[in-house]
Amino acid sequence: MVEAIADTNRQSEERGGNEPLVRVEGLRKVFGSGPSERVVLGGVNLDVARGEWVAIVGASGAGKSTFLQLVAALDTPTSGRVYFASRALHSLGEEQRAEFRRRSVGFVWQRHHLLADFTAAENVAAPLLLDGVSRREALAEAGDLLEQVGLGGRAGQRAAELSGGERQRVAIARALVNRPELLLADEPTGELDEQNAEAVFRLMGHLHESRRLTTILATHNAALAQRTHRVLVLERGSLTPVAGAGGAGHQAGAVEAGGKERG
Ligand SMILES: Nc1ncnc2c1ncn2[C@@H]1O[C@H](COP(=O)(O)OP(=O)(O)OP(=O)(O)O)[C@@H](O)[C@H]1O
Ligand SMILES: [Mg+2]
Repeated sequence: MVEAIADTNRQSEERGGNEPLVRVEGLRKVFGSGPSERVVLGGVNLDVARGEWVAIVGASGAGKSTFLQLVAALDTPTSGRVYFASRALHSLGEEQRAEFRRRSVGFVWQRHHLLADFTAAENVAAPLLLDGVSRREALAEAGDLLEQVGLGGRAGQRAAELSGGERQRVAIARALVNRPELLLADEPTGELDEQNAEAVFRLMGHLHESRRLTTILATHNAALAQRTHRVLVLERGSLTPVAGAGGAGHQAGAVEAGGKERG
């Protein structure tokens, strides 16, 4: 599967890499039934180009987390499709989906979900250990990533002893340790004060560039969202572009990208 994705990527790069990394087609998600039915996503279309950084804003309950979880194959849609590098996620078996989540996607949550009694390095190394990498190699790689997120000196610190901003940096390092192409971040700055939110956002911009990521960020923070390439608002089950938004990516060290929303 990973080899298949790598092949697809290579072929796409040989063709000029014009195909989007993520394509969402007619995505619907309905919770409940009868009088309690709630249409959270009412047929959403979106293309995200390789190297693009997209922000999704929307009120609480609009469906941002639902959307990201569908893109991460953590949940299945009521109808509609998600493609990753032209591969339809719905066509993957359970094992392949798990592999896709483990290898191709990094996920950062609003709450860091770190293991409190484990060190920063052990938390970051965890996905590699699950993937069968030796402990020595995994911890070395984790140390490298902790350097990149500015926590080189805290590798041996227990997660419980880190500040909120530091924990979120560790969570970002953990999301990237398997070298995914796609980073999905669900309110990663939601629980941080302004200064730490700014620092974490800048770090994301830096990693987006240096690791050549494609990033989808869900956030309530309109000011931060404006500094990505493109802002979309999720409202009443539809995803629509915010007029004149985005394109200020230079503030976060972002790259030019050519993705377009499709509906
Ligand atoms: N498993 C579920 N069963 C039923 N309803 C759900 C489920 N998951 C989410 N919902 C509903 O779907 C809607 C969208 O939820 P979601 O968490 O995606 O919103 P959000 O935009 O991420 O909100 P927030 O900004 O508060 O994080 C909400 O009304 C929520 O109650
Ligand atoms: Mg949410």
